[in-house]
Amino acid sequence: MNKLNMKINIAGIELKNPVMTASGTFGSGKEYSDYVDLNRLGAVVVKGISMKPWKGNSSPRIAETYGGMLNSVGLQNPGIEVLIKEDIPFLRQYDTKIIVNIAGKTVEEYCQVAERLGEADIDMIELNISCPNVKEGGVCFGTDPFMAEHVTKAVKKVAKQPLIVKLTPNVTDIVSIAKGAVAGGADALSMINTLLGMAIDINKRKPILANIVGGLSGPAIKPVAIRMVHEVAKAVDVPIIGMGGIMNGDDAIEFMLAGATGVAVGMANFTSPTATIEVVDGIEKYMKKHGFSSIDEIRKSLQY
Ligand SMILES: Cc1cc2nc3c(=O)[nH]c(=O)nc-3n(C[C@H](O)[C@H](O)[C@H](O)COP(=O)(O)O)c2cc1C
Repeated sequence: MNKLNMKINIAGIELKNPVMTASGTFGSGKEYSDYVDLNRLGAVVVKGISMKPWKGNSSPRIAETYGGMLNSVGLQNPGIEVLIKEDIPFLRQYDTKIIVNIAGKTVEEYCQVAERLGEADIDMIELNISCPNVKEGGVCFGTDPFMAEHVTKAVKKVAKQPLIVKLTPNVTDIVSIAKGAVAGGADALSMINTLLGMAIDINKRKPILANIVGGLSGPAIKPVAIRMVHEVAKAVDVPIIGMGGIMNGDDAIEFMLAGATGVAVGMANFTSPTATIEVVDGIEKYMKKHGFSSIDEIRKSLQY
């Protein structure tokens, strides 16, 4: 058997393996570094960052559900300058790629964050287009193909690093949004973000989340994510980073068979802080067992 090669390449950036952290579930790595050897990860994707600090939503903002959780954290973050000053130098001590997830309320804000990151020592930008566009009256950039193309094009123009566009599943036709992002110049896509959900406390007869609705993540959303990755992989020609309910190596392999090049671990970090490492080991074990020598081979091996 050839030597096991777990490397992947996204827009010219080589990752030692396909396993990343899903934005918002791993902080900026510091919080997990006592449990996880960050050197073993393909990339750390940091929490969503905006130009100015954002307070986030009121509590309660987390609710447990069957096979998952709801969150309405609301993109709380300390702003780009704190990330550049404190988090990036911390992560640079490790041999892992750094991907910064960016948030904005307007196209201009996304562009400002991307521009500022041009001077930062990071490897890629992930554009989260699931948040409301206040100027346009509460429409999500990620739910309209033309808006997706427009914001991607604007950010691509100012970004120095390769651009990943992160898609929301809260749409009727994810393929049209993916095509919009690719038309706008996305170097890669990541999917999926959380599914809009709601939970009610039947004794209090009140919604559990202060925000009433929140984003569902975890194993409950995996079949939706697999279906969407499979549909999009057949329709576009850029690498896909798959996520949504990955708990172990087998889940990650399922995403690759659906067409993903890379994978990200989200909610599992909360239930098992070492989940990312278990996923790396699980993928390696599967490759050995089934005689695969590259991630590319797995991705192309789905039988119908
Ligand atoms: C608490 C929490 C915070 C999140 N924050 C962000 C964020 O800032 N930006 C983003 O693009 N996605 C964010 N996400 C979505 C995750 O990155 C991921 O797409 C989603 O949770 C699906 O993966 P999972 O089922 O493995 O958690 C967040 C998810 C959770 C649970």
